[in-house]
Amino acid sequence: MRSAPYPDWPSLDESDVDAVTAVVRGGQVGGYPEPGPRAAEFAAGFAAYQGAAHGIVMANGTVTMEVALKALGVGWGDEVIIPALTFAATPYAAMAAGALPVFVDVEPARWTIDPDLVEAAITPRTRAIMPVHLGQQMADMDRIMEIARRHDLFVVEDCAHAHGQRWDEQGAGTLGDFGSFSHQSTKILTAGEGGTLTTQDERLARLAHSLIDCGRPKDAAETEYTFGANYRLGELACALLVNGLRRFPVQRERRAALGEHFERLAADIPGVTIKHRNPRITRWSFYRYIFEIDPDAFAGATNEQVADAISAEGVPAEVQYPPMSRYDLFQPSLSRLPVAVEHADRLDPAKMSFPVAEAAGERTAVYLNECIFRSDEAGVEHAVEALAKVQRLAADVAAAVNPS
Ligand SMILES: Cc1ncc(COP(=O)(O)O)c(C=O)c1O
Repeated sequence: MRSAPYPDWPSLDESDVDAVTAVVRGGQVGGYPEPGPRAAEFAAGFAAYQGAAHGIVMANGTVTMEVALKALGVGWGDEVIIPALTFAATPYAAMAAGALPVFVDVEPARWTIDPDLVEAAITPRTRAIMPVHLGQQMADMDRIMEIARRHDLFVVEDCAHAHGQRWDEQGAGTLGDFGSFSHQSTKILTAGEGGTLTTQDERLARLAHSLIDCGRPKDAAETEYTFGANYRLGELACALLVNGLRRFPVQRERRAALGEHFERLAADIPGVTIKHRNPRITRWSFYRYIFEIDPDAFAGATNEQVADAISAEGVPAEVQYPPMSRYDLFQPSLSRLPVAVEHADRLDPAKMSFPVAEAAGERTAVYLNECIFRSDEAGVEHAVEALAKVQRLAADVAAAVNPS
């Protein structure tokens, strides 16, 4: 369906070469002293863009969440509620902070954490909720924040996919106690690696700075030490982030416009369900665009087979996260954490059941690559035509592969 490649990512140019060169010539290439000038410049610019009072740049979008939980004092013996459909980094971060990830299923309408199930999972040990703004969606932050307030819980938003999103005019990452952003190479604001925490709270920002800088105190009196490690990001990467942020608003606008074009055209394809964003999202931005297929309308094909077939048509698509009930990582038998043994039932995949996340991860969720939405209307139309073709011919392909 399409032979021309979609635009490259990351989209770097000569200004990035100049920015990195200037750092090399300047001499401070590392992240120490923290924050370096580029780290501070990017953190201030990005925090302002999201509407946060503070930004703290660090090594990646996994340690961001670990640092957020540590700054909030969440750790040993505490439970953190996490959606069953996310990247492994979200529960990993909770475990790295010493806490127990407690998974709950996602909502069928948007595949973000189900607030009713969050409420049902709260125990006296629960200290935090980590909603994930997955793909083109944001978790229902009105409900999450209301539950958090009522039960006195912290909220750390996993915004790895949500740079630029706004919920009711408030930026992603500014609604909870912390927002965690990834700048890993596939993410929409990238330096190859990197992560940023946003917060409105000056003391939490200070603690986060200390936690990523080997525990050095960041208060005026220099007395507030933390049990920190080195999670600083080097200035070479920060220079790329400064440039990336300059390009970001235009890229975001284009993705949003082309995302709407996709939604208008793809809605008519049999067996395809568009997962419309929550109307509370007032500035739309997304990483991957995720839609749902009905395998029956695709001759019984799985989401993986459909993604492969679309990709073979020149339109990059994939299947991303398995549901958390399928990860060996979270089996208590593989963990030495006493807390995990104590709560073995809650961590045993055999006892977990997340029907919505399992159906999405294993049968129905297809992720379209971001580059499609940085091309042009024709590029989006190719994606729609490829999807329609795969659906139309699915039965013929199935019959050819399996003639009986
Ligand atoms: C939902 C989600 N959370 C967290 C991360 C972790 O980010 P990083 O790769 O920067 O550690 C990613 C992506 O990698 C992600 O997709």
